[in-house]
Amino acid sequence: MTYLVVHLVHIFSVFIYGGFLFTDNLFLNKMKKDLSGEEHSKVREYFMKYVRQVVPKSLIIAVLSGIYLIFTNFGTIGEDGLSNFQILLSIKAFLGLWLGLRGVLQVFFGIQPLVFKSHIFPFILVVIIIFLSQIMFEV
Ligand code: HEM
Repeated sequence: MTYLVVHLVHIFSVFIYGGFLFTDNLFLNKMKKDLSGEEHSKVREYFMKYVRQVVPKSLIIAVLSGIYLIFTNFGTIGEDGLSNFQILLSIKAFLGLWLGLRGVLQVFFGIQPLVFKSHIFPFILVVIIIFLSQIMFEV
């Protein structure tokens, strides 16, 4: 039962975090074509004011719930080394932890990312993570 609840928490927190990245990259950024720089920043701030209250927390919940899930279903490493499932899950976890660390440093410690500062990078990583989260059970 606990696993099911944590798995659902993982999916919903990822839904919120990923949902913001999709909206920001696919829709909000497009507003730049129709608005002046000043107008765009003003409109974006109306949105970001609420995003900041929810999205960083959902990222942290996604990472913490993911850590619980991986400890529960990673399994033991066989004599032949890591299975394909374990390899893909490890890559997915690494990318997720990177996003988590990057987000926490940026939001809670004001430490800006050294590379890939825009929201395009986390967006691309989330798309890759979603694919890995499904492929890992098929290989
Ligand atoms: C922001 C980062 C993350 C995103 C976008 C993400 C996304 C996802 C998605 C879409 C699933 C599939 C859910 C399903 O099909 O049921 C999933 C499952 C999973 N995630 Fe994450 N995840 C993230 C971070 C993490 C981290 C950091 C870890 C581990 C340290 C992790 C461990 C897992 C595990 C073990 C599963 C499999 C659960 C199962 O199907 O039983 N995730 N994740």
